[in-house]
Amino acid sequence: MEIKKVGVVGCGLMGGGITEVCAKAGYPTVVLEVKQEFLDKGLTNIRTSLERVVKRGRMTEEEKNATLGRIKGTLSVEDFSDCDLVIEAAIENLAEKKKIFADLDRVCPPHAFLASNTSCLSILDMAMVTKRPNQVLGLHFFSPVPVMQLVEIVQTLVTSDEVIKTAEQFCKSIGKQTVLCKDTPGFIANRLAMVYLVYVFRCYEQGLATKEDIDKTMRLGLNHPMGPLELSDFIGLDVIYYILSAMYEETKDALFAPPIILKKMVAAGHLGRKTGKGFYDHKQS
Ligand code: CAA
Repeated sequence: MEIKKVGVVGCGLMGGGITEVCAKAGYPTVVLEVKQEFLDKGLTNIRTSLERVVKRGRMTEEEKNATLGRIKGTLSVEDFSDCDLVIEAAIENLAEKKKIFADLDRVCPPHAFLASNTSCLSILDMAMVTKRPNQVLGLHFFSPVPVMQLVEIVQTLVTSDEVIKTAEQFCKSIGKQTVLCKDTPGFIANRLAMVYLVYVFRCYEQGLATKEDIDKTMRLGLNHPMGPLELSDFIGLDVIYYILSAMYEETKDALFAPPIILKKMVAAGHLGRKTGKGFYDHKQS
């Protein structure tokens, strides 16, 4: 099957990034939000991101305008009626995602594939509310989506090999590399990265070193682009807490038990960059 038109559910950080890369690659892309205010904000962020690319000399003004021209913002799920692939990047809540998948199944043409960008929830649970479970898969992008090269493609027990092959071609066409993962909590990246972050939080709590020195060690000693505490602020401590809780709930593996320090910081609203305070103070930047 050839993918000609893409739909994206959610125009937040991830949905907006996915919309941007699909439109940049030439796909007419419809992006759905629940409120005009969220849509306006998301579309403004896409424009700003593209303007940054133009400023760096990697895109012309005409290409930017053509990319923006391929994006249609909407508040109506019915606008996905002629999409060949819809990627859901809405709130990380399984009940909400099941509702969204039931709606997508009702509206999208029978041949369309439905994908979720979830970081940790069961793709099979979403697939089973549709009448096309073998056409449902995970497409897990990384933030910032325009920059990060990888997409994890998640195959459930029932996703067909044909769907996976088309998804691999599609990801290549939007400039991404792929890995294939099973539908297990956290897939590959979060399964491994969350254990690392949990251990860092525990070491920090026990006074191993200052946060600056922990981050500096991993940046300069191991060439990571960001130290683990900077990275946590970048991802959002609420997101990490949510992913860990979901992984712990599903596996009961103590490796994923959210540390107290994380729970307290989330309760205090110290969520990282998005609230101006996490492990670091971001208010001045
Ligand atoms: N949109 C478009 N381009 C962007 C961008 C954005 N939001 N942010 C950065 N860029 C581009 C810049 O234009 C720049 O491009 P050039 O060098 O080619 O001109 C390049 O990316 C580097 O950016 P900066 O110089 O501004 O900043 P930097 O060198 O400090 O890099 C970073 C920023 C790319 C975010 C880097 O720090 C990094 O890779 N950090 C780690 C990010 C990471 O691990 N992400 C995964 C998070 S986990 C996740 O997403 C999954 C999950 O389920 C939780």
